[in-house]
Amino acid sequence: MDYRKMGRTGLRVSEICLGTMQFGWTAEEEASRQVMDTFWEAGGNFIDTADIYTNWAGDASYGGKTEEIIGRWIKDRGNRRDCILATKVRGKMGEGPTGEGLSRHHIIYACEDSLRRLQTDYIDLYQCHWADLNTPIDETLSALDDLVRAGKVRYIGASNYPAWRLMEALAASDKRGLARFDCYQPEYSLMERQLFEYEAMLLCRHYQIGVIPYSPLAGGFLTGKYRRDSPRPESVRAGGILEKYGNDRGWAVIDALDEIARAHDKTVAQTALAWQLTNPVMTAPIIGANTPEQLSDLLGAVGYRLSDEEMKRLNELTSYPRNWRPIWD
Ligand SMILES: NC(=O)c1ccc[n+]([C@@H]2O[C@H](COP(=O)([O-])OP(=O)(O)OC[C@H]3O[C@@H](n4cnc5c(N)ncnc54)[C@H](OP(=O)(O)O)[C@@H]3O)[C@@H](O)[C@H]2O)c1
Repeated sequence: MDYRKMGRTGLRVSEICLGTMQFGWTAEEEASRQVMDTFWEAGGNFIDTADIYTNWAGDASYGGKTEEIIGRWIKDRGNRRDCILATKVRGKMGEGPTGEGLSRHHIIYACEDSLRRLQTDYIDLYQCHWADLNTPIDETLSALDDLVRAGKVRYIGASNYPAWRLMEALAASDKRGLARFDCYQPEYSLMERQLFEYEAMLLCRHYQIGVIPYSPLAGGFLTGKYRRDSPRPESVRAGGILEKYGNDRGWAVIDALDEIARAHDKTVAQTALAWQLTNPVMTAPIIGANTPEQLSDLLGAVGYRLSDEEMKRLNELTSYPRNWRPIWD
C-alpha cells in the first residue's frame, strides 16, 4: 500500500479509501466484513461512511446500519487506533425540523449517535455530507470546532459543497480561529469531470485541501464489465448507469482504457483509478466493492500511474465545452 498526506495535515492515509455505501445495501454484513478484512490486510487504513447509509435500501434498512456494521468489525478486529475513520452528517436521521441539517443542534446529536454506532469515542474525519444553506456557516463551523476541541473529532471535511461555499467556510474558519475543512469529497470520475474541475479543484490545490473523490469508477461503469453490445451486467445499479453513460462517448472511454490497461498489463478499473492517482491534487479515491474479488481488482491500482500522453488522451476524450475550462489554470 502507498500512503499520502491528507492535504496540509500530517495525517497519512492509504491512497485508496474504502467506501461503505454498499454495506447493508448490496453487500450483506458477512460480505462487508470480508471486504474490510481484505482492505485491511492489503494495508488500507482509510474508511469512509455516512450516518444515513443505508436508509434507501428497502424495509429492513435504516440510516446508521452501515456505521453499526463497521463498529462491530472494528471492535472485533481491535484496530481502532490504526484505522482512519471518516463519517458524515447532514442527511435526515430523525423526524421533525431538527432531524437533519447542519445546525449546532443536529450536528452535536448526530455526532453522539455516530460515535455510539461506530463503538468509538472519536471520529477521525467528520464531514458535512452536503451544504445546508439555511444554517449560517459560522454556526456549523463553531459546532464542529467544539467537537474537535472536545476530542470527539480530529479533522473536519466537506462533501458536495459548491466551491463558493467551501471558500466561504475557509474564510470564516480563518477569521474566527476555528477548525477548517481540511478535506473535500466531490463526485469525480472520467465520466463526471467538470463539476469538480471547474472551480473546486483549483481551490483545493491552492489551499492544500485533501481530495477524496467518490464514485471514481462512475458507479461501476469504468470497471470494464459494461461493454458496447454486451448483455447488461447483474447489478442493481446497472439501469441508471447505462442510462447515463452507455452512449458513444462512454464506449469510447472504455475502448481507450482497455488499450492503456493492456499496455500496462492492468485492468480497466485499475486504469480508471490510475487516471485519478496521477493527478497530484488527489489524496485517495473512495472506491466501493461488494466482494473481496472486486476489491482485489481495485487495489491493483496502488502505485500505478499514467504517462503524460495517456493522461492527455483520456482528458481529451472526456473534455467538456471550452467555455467551462478555468481560464486561470
Ligand atoms: N459524499 C457523497 O455524497 C457520496 C455519494 C456516493 C458515494 N459516496 C462514497 O463513495 C463510495 C464509492 O462510491 P461508488 O460506490 O459510487 O463508487 P465506484 O467505485 O464508482 O463504484 C463502485 C461499484 O462498482 C462496482 N465494482 C467495483 N469494483 C468492481 C470490479 N472490480 N468489477 C466489477 N464491478 C466492480 C460495484 O457495483 P456492482 O457490483 O453493483 O456493479 C461497486 O458498488 C461509497 O461507498 C461511499 O462511501 C459518497
